[in-house]
Amino acid sequence: MADHLVIPAPAKLNLVLRVGPRAPDGYHPLGTLLVALAGLEDTVTIAAAPSRTLSCPGAPDGPANLAWRAVDALEAACARPLPARIDIVKRIPMQAGLGGGSSDAAAVLIGLTALYRLGLDVRELERLAADLGSDVPFFVRGGTQWATGRGERLLPRSRPTDLWAVICGPVAPLSTTEVYRTFDRLGHCGAIDPAPPTEPWTSGGWVGNDLWQAARTLAPELGAAADDLARLGAHEVLLCGSGGAMAGLWTSRAAAEAAAGQLRSVIAVTSPRPRVTGTG
Ligand code: C5P
Repeated sequence: MADHLVIPAPAKLNLVLRVGPRAPDGYHPLGTLLVALAGLEDTVTIAAAPSRTLSCPGAPDGPANLAWRAVDALEAACARPLPARIDIVKRIPMQAGLGGGSSDAAAVLIGLTALYRLGLDVRELERLAADLGSDVPFFVRGGTQWATGRGERLLPRSRPTDLWAVICGPVAPLSTTEVYRTFDRLGHCGAIDPAPPTEPWTSGGWVGNDLWQAARTLAPELGAAADDLARLGAHEVLLCGSGGAMAGLWTSRAAAEAAAGQLRSVIAVTSPRPRVTGTG
């Protein structure tokens, strides 16, 4: 048995985020095209240890951290303790809509399963992941996925090529709950089409985020960040998840890097991550 594992936990971008009306369970059904990103990731190190410890500087401790609750979920599913030392180095900003906490939790599910040879397959891990949060099943599967339901129904899509994203911010750290509440208040929401958009991303004009107006209402400064990205030539500008980071999309790395050089508060210049086993 390896005595420790080092697992990359990538950020994600929702190239499309369609949001339907709030369901009786309090959540909104989604139709979202998720891509795992290269060049922006946390690192999760898991080592067998006599008891459970979690070090995650800059993020909440204990059960307030989704990575901790991922261990609880796995222990409950396997009906056995899984003591481990978990060290997370965070590079993905929090409250940015980039999925850092969910990605860390998925890395913990995958890492502990491998470390203790629990014999759970990806489908079983995805079921556990769905109870932890909407983005966690995606990070267990990785790659590029069209996700529906609350994010638990995943359909693999081909990785967009020639796509470079300049991620800025978080311009305004936003609470997911507040953004969805504002989305409800603003109205105009019909049922969502569960069909995935057709590719390629540059041809259809389908890139977009239904939470944009709500986020912008809560944080008007997002509008200036969007204007900056558009002025620098981004093909598309979109809010990341429920905010508050923004992404501008380009078709070449050189053009994206040139634009990033003129912006303040750039988090990363990224592109869709080639599929690997494990997270991302
Ligand atoms: O996924 P997470 O638990 O972080 O979501 C926080 C809150 O955002 C939920 O309690 C819910 O109010 C809202 N939300 C929603 N529909 C979704 C995802 C989140 O209404 N699909």
